[in-house]
Amino acid sequence: MTAVSQTVDFSVEDGVGVITIDSPPVNALSSHVRDGLFEGMKAAIADDAVKSVVIICAGRTFIAGADISEFGGAQKGASLFDAQEAIENSTKPVVAAIHGTALGGGLEVALTAHFRVAIASARFGLPEVNLGLLPGAGGTQRLPRVVGAEQALHMMTSGAQIGTKEALASGLIEEVVDDLRAGAIAFAQKVVAEGRALTRIRDNDEKLKSARENASLFSDFRAKNARKFRGFDAPEANIKCIEAAVNLPFDEGIKVEREEFGKLMTGVQSAAQRYFFFAERQAQKIPDVPKDTPKRDIKSVGIIGGGTMGGGIAMNFANVGIPVTLVEVKADALERGLGIIRKNYENTAKKGRITEAQVEERMALISGTLEFSDLADKDLVIEAVFESMDLKKDIFKRLDDTLKPGAILASNTSALDLNEIASVTSRPEDVIGLHFFSPANVMRLLEVVRGDKTGKDVIATSMALGKKIGKAPVLSGVCPGFIGNRILFQRQAQAQKMIMQGPLPQDVDGALTNFGFPMGPFQMSDLAGLDIGWNKEKSNGETLRDVLCERDRRGQKTGKGYYDYDENRKPIPSDEVAEVIRDFAAKSNLPQVTLTEEEILKRLLYPMVNEAAKILQEGIAIRPSDVDVVWVYGYGWPRYWGGPCFWADVIGVDKIVAELEVLAKEEGAVWEPADLLKDLAAKGQGFKDFAAG
Ligand code: CAA
Repeated sequence: MTAVSQTVDFSVEDGVGVITIDSPPVNALSSHVRDGLFEGMKAAIADDAVKSVVIICAGRTFIAGADISEFGGAQKGASLFDAQEAIENSTKPVVAAIHGTALGGGLEVALTAHFRVAIASARFGLPEVNLGLLPGAGGTQRLPRVVGAEQALHMMTSGAQIGTKEALASGLIEEVVDDLRAGAIAFAQKVVAEGRALTRIRDNDEKLKSARENASLFSDFRAKNARKFRGFDAPEANIKCIEAAVNLPFDEGIKVEREEFGKLMTGVQSAAQRYFFFAERQAQKIPDVPKDTPKRDIKSVGIIGGGTMGGGIAMNFANVGIPVTLVEVKADALERGLGIIRKNYENTAKKGRITEAQVEERMALISGTLEFSDLADKDLVIEAVFESMDLKKDIFKRLDDTLKPGAILASNTSALDLNEIASVTSRPEDVIGLHFFSPANVMRLLEVVRGDKTGKDVIATSMALGKKIGKAPVLSGVCPGFIGNRILFQRQAQAQKMIMQGPLPQDVDGALTNFGFPMGPFQMSDLAGLDIGWNKEKSNGETLRDVLCERDRRGQKTGKGYYDYDENRKPIPSDEVAEVIRDFAAKSNLPQVTLTEEEILKRLLYPMVNEAAKILQEGIAIRPSDVDVVWVYGYGWPRYWGGPCFWADVIGVDKIVAELEVLAKEEGAVWEPADLLKDLAAKGQGFKDFAAG
């Protein structure tokens, strides 16, 4: 075996040259991997004993793509194109041997090989769109030539992966093998023995014919997905490249790919999305809770409260095979809760995402009880009742009396003081916050709230468990609202205040949806219902909400709220609401202002950035990127803007501080910039330079 680069070896086995990449963790195409591929191919061509070549990876996966951490830096060593050309134009057959995930540049390398074999569990995809990019190493031209334009459109604009069954059916792979190395070598020998022709994917456009005959393929696809792609640049760039694959010769298509790739790569959207990729992974790392911290075994879970939240939480555990017991106080509430869970699963099955058998398997893992004592042997119990400190304290006292030693006692509180809750137990080290977001079976964010006394093993267990159930866990310290809601409160306060100063709900919501949020605060209120927490008997018309609820404008459920709604639930600005607001505004002493959309946005987003800075300076969040993960996954901050801290750096922290100071002079201390923001601005820095401590 010869090392052809720092991470790539070359050996010859029974006439087959084997290029082995061993670059943990995911064999990404770092400069030494590209060098190794290039040099390995040279060695194979030069060696007369080599009749065919196998490219294979050690470790958990085939090449999982370009090395994202190298993007933006100067290129070192062989380019990916050099390596791909050496493979594709090789006079000796090249076989890519695939296990794990062949993603992005990894799949693009495999597509330049003459043949591909894989083990049954392998998966294939071009996920660049999720990084705000497109497959820039010929993938946009080669994949459609293998799987057809329709399937390529789906895969490249969603990043969806396919398994070996589909890959085999479409011709993406030639064979499924049991033992990857032995199977690939045997396949390479067979190809030589049979004298098979060395077909290059680039030369065969048979699969593009149907797309050429379908004049409306691309316009239909754009129209169908317009909502999903709204605001993102990368999906459209991917579509353009597939269109080029269909309509232009290969080399012309490659030119389009390079041009579109260049535009995306230098744009802010891709920078944000690549930042976010690492942000999500960084959030798993907790400085004082090392990776090897012992974890507790969670084999059974109890949930107190079978409402929408409790039921949604339960589904997460059943989905990964962990049995869950739901506790309710009344039989009819329990029945209703279990019924809603079943309905949710059945709806998912109707959409084809799970099978009927899986619905039954998952339901079999969820049981209901009215007996608190049934929780005694659970490894983890999550309290998910409404936000009352007294009620929560009462429940935690009972949990302390009931649960076995070593169990984790978790609260799903969204804003209450976890330390106070923990203080009623004899084991505050076992108490943690697990704040799920509604709908809890769908939303990716999980705020893991660390109390003053929470044990490190409890934190490590909760973070790992969050990942296991498919969430993006982020650690927060204790403060009212934790990371997410504390920032939301600031935005809400400004939104409510602003409509008393001139702009209307549709102006505020419009500014946020144009920025990229799925909806604004008033649309959100209408969806949730304005009457949550409103009391008809006590209502006396003193607040805007009182008046709207009294007029039966309680949101979408009554057909009107801040907006009127048509039969398709389309919000229509309401003259009646505008008038009510004008009456309230006249009574308020707030200055009336005329604001552009940009100014509205500043008044909503700058306070969020300011609060994020306070959260960081108080040590509630570990790092700015954690705040960004919370806001992207929990509140729909557009991923192409990275999150409030990333966005603030794009705008410039110094500029934000200057504008906050002006607003503080005009409208008071609420606009006063946080010390951390002032400090960063004074040093000419941004959140990216923040160092905790
Ligand atoms: N570049 C650099 N680092 C990468 C990487 C990549 N392409 N993919 C993963 N990593 C790193 C992660 O940051 C992580 O590092 P830490 O342990 O330090 O946090 C480590 O590898 C393990 O990753 P995961 O925690 O995500 O491990 P997993 O087993 O859950 O998932 C995976 C593995 C499916 C490969 C997942 O990491 C993934 O989806 N990676 C990105 C794949 C991708 O987007 N490829 C396209 C790249 S762009 C491209 O290829 C452009 C082109 O056309 C040339």
